[in-house]
Amino acid sequence: MSGKRDPGGFETRAIHAGQERDEATGATIVPVYQTVTFTQDAIESDRGFVYSRSGNPTRAALEQCLAALEGARFGLAYASGMAAVAGAMQLVRAGDHVVVADDLYGGTWRLFTRILPEYGVRFRYADATRPEELAKACEPATRLLWIESPTNPMLRIVDVAACAEVARRHGALLAVDNTFATPFLQNPIALGAQVVVHSTTKYLGGHSDVIGGAVVVDDEALHERLRFAQNATGGVPGPWDAWLTLRGVKTLAVRMRQHEANAARVAGFLRGRPEIAAVHWPGFPDHPGHELARRQMRGFGGMVTIELAGGEPSARRLCESTRIFSLAESLGGVESLIGYPWSMSHAAFAPEDKRRKGIHEGVVRLSVGLEDADDLCEDLSRALQAVGQ
Ligand SMILES: Cc1ncc(COP(=O)(O)O)c(C=O)c1O
Repeated sequence: MSGKRDPGGFETRAIHAGQERDEATGATIVPVYQTVTFTQDAIESDRGFVYSRSGNPTRAALEQCLAALEGARFGLAYASGMAAVAGAMQLVRAGDHVVVADDLYGGTWRLFTRILPEYGVRFRYADATRPEELAKACEPATRLLWIESPTNPMLRIVDVAACAEVARRHGALLAVDNTFATPFLQNPIALGAQVVVHSTTKYLGGHSDVIGGAVVVDDEALHERLRFAQNATGGVPGPWDAWLTLRGVKTLAVRMRQHEANAARVAGFLRGRPEIAAVHWPGFPDHPGHELARRQMRGFGGMVTIELAGGEPSARRLCESTRIFSLAESLGGVESLIGYPWSMSHAAFAPEDKRRKGIHEGVVRLSVGLEDADDLCEDLSRALQAVGQ
């Protein structure tokens, strides 16, 4: 929110950006400003905050910290990742055309197919792993390109810089949903994007105890438009949620390193198992996006997606047999989760759309948490024995 760039290494920014000691009391940790309103010194004389929908100091600290982590100047916090997606989409208006990667989170797809077309925004979908396909989908009214990388759940890697170049050539903005990578592993603005979106519910919050979202931009005019729309539509987080997210962000770096180490162990373990037909993790040197991931990311993340040799019955059995991995929606928390994209995260897609993207009934998604990696492998091993019976 501050409009200045915070210096320092990632870990330092995560712990200090936007989090100077409290002016009023000296509190070292940003207080939870649980207040709706702020008493003014005189008419038209306030101390920077007037009403908590428009701005709240706890939320402002989170917004500045998230901007700093993305290497940008402006952050806006929202009540959920979907509120952030909807907030970013307030940059387009009726008659505008948006080109969208066809491999995207089901909730975003639902907003783009069921809600926003009603307001006159037009969408076209293309395979973003081939940026020339995005270019072909552009038309003179295209104002925005929307991508995710790594994609959910197949963990394909999209070339962010190449997509940014396509957007630039067509006079459009590039928005990147950076939820899976997190700013620890990838900074889309440095790769040429203008808008970064996060579900902070996931790795940024990191403890599966708070829903939230964020949009980060470096351009002042974009920030002004988003800030105006945020205040006008009101989908902001409360101070407690902003505070919890800010607390989570402080440990993002150490968590992401361990998520990745555990994912590497789990992915390697699963790869050797006869019950598994394929293991998708961008850290494998033979993953099709590995080299690209090495170029545009600083690691490979904690998500692993597998295809069961036995198809749907095996996938369902596995999901219902683990004891440490909880069968639950979401990802990015300290605890390991197992999910069945076909009827969970990607339920909103038609079956033929899912199959076209490789999301068949035998696909299982793992959010590898921070438990002991031996315990995680043992849990999966035990569950796979149940699959084999
Ligand atoms: C990539 C991605 N973007 C956005 C969202 C929406 O976030 P939220 O559930 O916080 O609204 C999700 C949720 O799973 C997601 O995975």
